[in-house]
Amino acid sequence: MDNKDIFRRELVDVHGVPLFWSIAEAWPQIEAFEARPDDLLISTYPKSGTTWVSEILDMIYNNGDIEKCKRDAIFNRVPFMELIVPGYVNGIQQLEALKSPRLVKTHLPVELLPSSLWKNDCKMIYVARNAKDVAVSYYYFYQMAKMHPEPGTWEEFLEKFKAGKVGFGSWYDHVKGWWEKRKDYRILYLFYEDMKEDPKRELLKVLKFLEKDLPEEIVNKILYHTSFKVMKQNPTANYTMMSEKEMDHNVSPFMRKGISGDWKNQFTVAQYETFEKHYNQQMEGTTLKFREEI
Ligand code: A3P
Repeated sequence: MDNKDIFRRELVDVHGVPLFWSIAEAWPQIEAFEARPDDLLISTYPKSGTTWVSEILDMIYNNGDIEKCKRDAIFNRVPFMELIVPGYVNGIQQLEALKSPRLVKTHLPVELLPSSLWKNDCKMIYVARNAKDVAVSYYYFYQMAKMHPEPGTWEEFLEKFKAGKVGFGSWYDHVKGWWEKRKDYRILYLFYEDMKEDPKRELLKVLKFLEKDLPEEIVNKILYHTSFKVMKQNPTANYTMMSEKEMDHNVSPFMRKGISGDWKNQFTVAQYETFEKHYNQQMEGTTLKFREEI
């Protein structure tokens, strides 16, 4: 396949959710994913802190052994379940080859999650991040990660984001869908902003959820190793081990800013006002609340 047959193609609807064309084509294989009861699912809407929490979990699984966590790139240590791109990656096959206990990454909304994950009652950690910071981060990610269609201008991208016409669909439906599911399944629902505010508190929540104890010194080691500054310099965490055809860090680095409230540098006052109006309509009636800066 030529690059133009793979990259920058339009998204394709799968049960109403826009996904990469190659995920849509491989959908039956993804739906048939066979979970194992001791799988841990890491679920997020894109750009919400997936890589951060993945690195934390791999470190916990390896009792803070930094060398072990450098055994491979994060996208191989924690395979992206539904990511299938011919000639590049197949998340389902990667996971089949992994020994248990596995860490499994997904961006799927609840209604598209393969049923075996529910049936096996797998533990799941969801990380949510405020909509405006996600929109900004996603806009820069669209530019550097070539599986996405061209983002257009910021104004154009923001409209698509609000309408849910971006990869993995509506942010609103995603965060609300997972928020509801937590009532019936073993889901730990975390917030990026809380992790920024007090990473230790959130790490201890994760340990409790996993029913795992680690000595204080290892907890501190994990916190250091998973700080933005250290992860940005770590080739096994910062996505520079991915081919340049797929991600161009010269356009925008994967580890971009890692802060809360960057939306203030991007939104105009008019964009902010229309966004807030639309946001309040979309989030009406939910108990789910976000903080937008720390
Ligand atoms: P920005 O683009 O706002 O910098 P994901 O892993 O879900 O794709 O999310 C990527 C976002 O998380 C990027 O946000 C990235 O910089 C940020 N991020 C990654 N590691 C982080 C860390 N250790 N601390 C804080 N933010 C981090």
